[in-house]
Amino acid sequence: MFGISAKQNIVGLDVGSNAVKIVELEKKRGGLHLASFGAVGLPEDSIVDGEVLNHTSVVDSIKTLANELNIAASPVCTSVCGSSLIVKHISIPKVPLRELDDQIYWEAEQYIPFDMAEINMDYEIVNADGDHGQIELILVAAKKDFIEKRLTTIRDAGFDPQILDVDAFALANIYWENYDVSENTFSVLIDLGAAMTKINIVTQETTLFMRDIAVGGKNLTQEIQDKLGVSFEEAEILKIDAATSEQIPKEVLEAINTVSENIGLELRRSLDFFIASNADYPITGAYVCGGACKMPGLTSALEDMLGLPVYYLNPFERIGYNSQVYNDEFIAAIASSAAVPMGLAMRNFE
Ligand SMILES: Nc1ncnc2c1ncn2[C@@H]1O[C@H](COP(=O)(O)OP(=O)(O)OP(=O)(O)O)[C@@H](O)[C@H]1O
Ligand SMILES: [Mg+2]
Repeated sequence: MFGISAKQNIVGLDVGSNAVKIVELEKKRGGLHLASFGAVGLPEDSIVDGEVLNHTSVVDSIKTLANELNIAASPVCTSVCGSSLIVKHISIPKVPLRELDDQIYWEAEQYIPFDMAEINMDYEIVNADGDHGQIELILVAAKKDFIEKRLTTIRDAGFDPQILDVDAFALANIYWENYDVSENTFSVLIDLGAAMTKINIVTQETTLFMRDIAVGGKNLTQEIQDKLGVSFEEAEILKIDAATSEQIPKEVLEAINTVSENIGLELRRSLDFFIASNADYPITGAYVCGGACKMPGLTSALEDMLGLPVYYLNPFERIGYNSQVYNDEFIAAIASSAAVPMGLAMRNFE
């Protein structure tokens, strides 16, 4: 995305609102392998709606994690999400491939509510052969200062951001690499982060629809906080404990039900929006990842509310790992958090 291209091997750096995650992949005979993974929490409100508000804490956290993992300053693929991204699903008249960039630029002016000189823009083709001789595509744009702020943070932490992607697109990389996807498979990929839920509806090699919604695991922490009158940190502990405990306190259970239902309703709304204009693409399943997908009972609540089978998006279905460094238990525990940074690291191998 955003026109920066990678020429050499790089790592995936996922700077989420709750935690920074780094993945390093190596290419071995037989495919890609996880060389290292690590995560470090960020102080609250360091990143809000995709925007870096506390530059120093984000830079320090990235540096600390890179040191821990022994990853020297190197090129990285990183990503952004949130409402600063302008995502538009548009159709334009068909033009020869060499004129496409110019055509999209002129068409985009109608859809982007800013001066084109102030934004960075990229696009993904959804259908090169759409109805009435049109090309359907997804435009993703963001203001240059938003992008520059993020890139400066990454550079100040000692890394060289060669590709700036979008979280939702990183999910698709993981899905295509790890699963058999036919042209009749239409899946919704869902990254349940702390502050944002990212949706990407995909089929074979194509993104059909993407959207970021401002709900996530933090909503559950806040709900527990309100119900029990405890601090955010205490509520976070109660929430994580609930994922493995047999006896979940009544208030926590109520909070889980409320938040699961809210997340389910938001997702349902987005799917309905997509289905209304895409009846030809019947969605066959949902794949979830991100830290908040571990909320107890969430997958079964989503199955009911979306009327779809819900699976965990497993980045290690076909991507190996060094079994002398990592065991199966560790890999299973990190799978949901590793999906986005793995999808980012993979950009380099495309
Ligand atoms: N075992 C668990 N049970 C419930 N929630 C969990 C568990 N582990 C992590 N979480 C929640 O997952 C969220 C963090 O997920 P993740 O690391 O994917 O977020 P992020 O990438 O930092 O955020 P975002 O993508 O929204 O910017 C937090 O809200 C955290 O409380
Ligand atoms: Mg995230």
